[in-house]
Amino acid sequence: ATPDPHSPTGAPSADPASAAAQQGAFLTTATGVPLRDTDHSLKAGPRGPTLLQDHHLREKLMHFDHERIPERVVHARGAGAHGVFVSNGAAADVTRAAFLAKDAETPVFVRFSTVLGSRGSADTVRDTRGFATKFYTSEGNFDLVGNNMPVFFIQDGIKFPDIVHAAKPHPDREIPQAQSAHDTFWDFVSLHTEAQHHTLWNMSDRGIPRSYRTMEGFGVHTFRLVAADGGTTLCKLHWKPRLGVHSLTWEEAQLAGGVDPDFHRRDLYDAIESGAFPAWDLGIQVFPDTPEQFFEGIDLLDPTKLVPEELAPVQLIGTMTLNGNPTNFFAETEQVAFHTGHLVPGIDASDDPLLQARNFSYLDTQLSRLGGPNFNQIPVNRPHAPVNDMLRDGAHQQAVHGGVAPYEPSSLDGGCPFTADGGFVDVPVAIPATTKVRASPASFDDHFSQARLFWTSMTPVEQEHIVNAYSFELAKCYEQAIKERQLFALANIDAELCAQVAAALGLPAPEATVTYDEPDPSPALSQLGETWPVD
Ligand code: HEM
Repeated sequence: ATPDPHSPTGAPSADPASAAAQQGAFLTTATGVPLRDTDHSLKAGPRGPTLLQDHHLREKLMHFDHERIPERVVHARGAGAHGVFVSNGAAADVTRAAFLAKDAETPVFVRFSTVLGSRGSADTVRDTRGFATKFYTSEGNFDLVGNNMPVFFIQDGIKFPDIVHAAKPHPDREIPQAQSAHDTFWDFVSLHTEAQHHTLWNMSDRGIPRSYRTMEGFGVHTFRLVAADGGTTLCKLHWKPRLGVHSLTWEEAQLAGGVDPDFHRRDLYDAIESGAFPAWDLGIQVFPDTPEQFFEGIDLLDPTKLVPEELAPVQLIGTMTLNGNPTNFFAETEQVAFHTGHLVPGIDASDDPLLQARNFSYLDTQLSRLGGPNFNQIPVNRPHAPVNDMLRDGAHQQAVHGGVAPYEPSSLDGGCPFTADGGFVDVPVAIPATTKVRASPASFDDHFSQARLFWTSMTPVEQEHIVNAYSFELAKCYEQAIKERQLFALANIDAELCAQVAAALGLPAPEATVTYDEPDPSPALSQLGETWPVD
């Protein structure tokens, strides 16, 4: 029996694609011909040249030569696990999503990752961590593609290639492998100051988790929930680890990374293998769906901002337990394809410009990473709900489609199969009369107030860790002007933080350059529009 990659317990399945992998008592060719020998190529005599006739040799080498696929352009290094999500029904009033109904149980696959390093880099580096969850719901797959930090570097997805190019290793030296200790990173974040809030989270202890099991997860963006009666609310989604949030100190991370670069991957696998199943509660912050899409003065469409839990408590709506290790890393962890556009009835996207760009980008990158348009047929990506689409053919097509009419309208194959109700509804959100622009709302101009809030919420020892992190990372920059520019940004966050980092770098501490006006607590859309420059 073949282990089933869909099953949290790895239980055998009748899935023909999995079953195709290994069967029978003998070694065979890919086409099932039993083999007598796989150790010697076919030669003209024991010392003679190898013969072109040896199909087994050619097939074996051809397949090996093509075993590698491109690693992810970001989040290349990761570790995955199967599990189950059980809803407590607390969200049933605000969303009609079937998997959030009381006591609904949904299989999941989770992939944790670092962002910047390549597939073979160390787990213990200072970096943001990915926390991506695929829920195989009865209404199709829902993917919550989050990070372990609640905010992001940029406000508009058009800047994603810029931040990633700046943060990846230098094009000339290809260093550093997976850390932010280099000129191009600090050059970008000091020039593009909307990145300062996320950068501060990176420099905090959150940048070096103790374990994947002790990380929070955040959907970051605002999503729109749709209730059974059609009513809508806005929400943010959070994972809360049952083991609490814990980090490594920087010194611990250096030791752990030296002794065991697979520190987090091993920890997750061993915990699950030994039955110490990690668990997270899923929580939501709920906000009224007003035309302004602000809450308590915070722009809900700005992914560099969080909503403090004191203003909007996180309400727990279910629990996820990871209870199964992957059977095959490549088949599952490497080939899993998450997508922010994988939404189910009852959950819709917001107009956050970062989320909108992600909805394009993931599909696009997976098309080349997974070699064609049929990657949702790969077992780990396949929905557990029935699929009846009109997508046909293409590279790596696994299905043998019946019928003759993969088009609508059609009078053949039984006609139009649309569901009368229960299908996905795009919420009809009103868009006020506006002008086509390349710009952001004025509320996106506040780059420092929440960074300051984060810094002042830290204990003295956490602040000391942050100062040490900035001092270490910035000391690795070659360009003095970049260090000085980053000190200006720190001055705008907090004078004491700036002074301590400046002292460690042996540079003068600058004065704050930006005096930030508190944003209008609830600017009307028309006022926002007036401040938008026209491209
Ligand atoms: C991959 C999170 C922003 C493009 C990932 C992964 C996570 C993630 C968790 C790894 C998925 C996996 O394990 O397979 C986030 C979060 C973001 C964000 C939380 C902001 C809040 C963006 C943006 C873009 C982007 C703005 C592009 C416009 C990508 C790409 C991948 C990726 C291309 C590789 C996907 C693949 O090859 O399967 N992201 N991301 N991300 N992300 Fe993002």
